[in-house]
Amino acid sequence: MQSLKDMLVESKIFANREVLSPHYTPKKLIFREKEINNIERAIAPALKGERGRNLFIYGKTGSGKTSCARYVIEEVRDIPNGRAKISYINCKIYNSRYRVLNKIVSDHLPTYAKRGYGAVDLYEKLTSWIEEDNKILVIILDEVDVVKDLDDLIYTLTRINSDIKAGGVTIIGISNKVSFKEALDPRSLSTLYETELVFAPYYATELYAIIKDRAGMGFRANVINDDILHFIAASAAKEGGDARMSLKILSKSGEMAEERGLDKVTMKEATEASRFAENDVVYELIATLPEHHKLVLYSIAMLTQSGGSYKKLTDGADTYLFSGEVYRRYKSITESLHKEAKSERWYRKYLSELEMQGLITAFESGKGIRGHTKLIKLMYPPQKTKDVLEKDIMGYERETEKEEPA
Ligand SMILES: Nc1ncnc2c1ncn2[C@@H]1O[C@H](COP(=O)(O)OP(=O)(O)OP(=O)(O)O)[C@@H](O)[C@H]1O
Ligand SMILES: [Mg+2]
Repeated sequence: MQSLKDMLVESKIFANREVLSPHYTPKKLIFREKEINNIERAIAPALKGERGRNLFIYGKTGSGKTSCARYVIEEVRDIPNGRAKISYINCKIYNSRYRVLNKIVSDHLPTYAKRGYGAVDLYEKLTSWIEEDNKILVIILDEVDVVKDLDDLIYTLTRINSDIKAGGVTIIGISNKVSFKEALDPRSLSTLYETELVFAPYYATELYAIIKDRAGMGFRANVINDDILHFIAASAAKEGGDARMSLKILSKSGEMAEERGLDKVTMKEATEASRFAENDVVYELIATLPEHHKLVLYSIAMLTQSGGSYKKLTDGADTYLFSGEVYRRYKSITESLHKEAKSERWYRKYLSELEMQGLITAFESGKGIRGHTKLIKLMYPPQKTKDVLEKDIMGYERETEKEEPA
């Protein structure tokens, strides 16, 4: 444990911690010239006072979508022009049509916003403001897939162009979920996808260059060597070419070295940090499971902690669970939440999906124990798994923790 005194002493490891954070937007974005150019092309007409075409950007998490969009926004800020206006909207925060409209209005008409106007008023205010002097409004909707009433939002925003006599609106949507296409109204879809830009995941060599650059600014001289950077880039590439993850591993390994009082990052820290980051991904995966998958996994984590009947029968160290006891637990938890438990057929489907995700393993017991049954094993620590799930399972009541009657 580091003492306060140690913390105040200048770090032997870090020169500038902030640049190592995945939230830091670097001044230059390597390997993304083409993508940046595409975004510029979508925005260029606006700078000339013309309506552009809508653009839809997608690609895996950590592939640089947000960074590139922000980069172009910064560029535009430096070009003096009266008519082009930009709103960048993080839809994780502004996740409904109303909130998005309100955000756009508050970006450009701050005195008008926050007065509790309804959507219609906001819409009218916005359209007359655009018409006033032929403005072109570029609306960047990042993480657009999380908007609850997305079809309504797209419909409303695209309708502006037919409602106004002058000026226009260009929409740039960004998402890392391709599957959300299926949930969209075909009309919204065709508007959003007018032109499409795909961000490919980064290769290990690209990730290496990205973190090399960052390490040069973030670490003191000779703290981290090239072999370690290559190792980190390779682990992040294996997990899907995610630049954010490679930066997480990089900064985490630095923190570990510092906690251990070292003056260099060694392969040991890098290895541990990369395992740590992989875990992060797993818990994110758990947090985004559908409801009943969560409830089944939660039952498995609970039983794993209390030790299922298999453990009691065999006195074994490994905690395998009987499929039947898991189902019973799932049923009682679900019912205690005043929800309807799914049938065993569904339950078996959830199990095989949880297995495909690598969260559990399941196998047939063979004839030995209790005839022929399925045994289940949780692949991650039960407490951490439970913690992640508890945050999401709404109205979860502690009393379900009681042991089931035999
Ligand atoms: N080409 C690049 N050069 C340097 N750093 C990069 C590059 N691409 C990504 N990064 C770094 O990785 C981080 C994550 O990238 P970004 O947030 O742009 O990903 P994203 O595609 O928007 O991911 P998500 O879908 O999860 O939102 C950035 O903050 C930045 O620090
Ligand atoms: Mg993003």
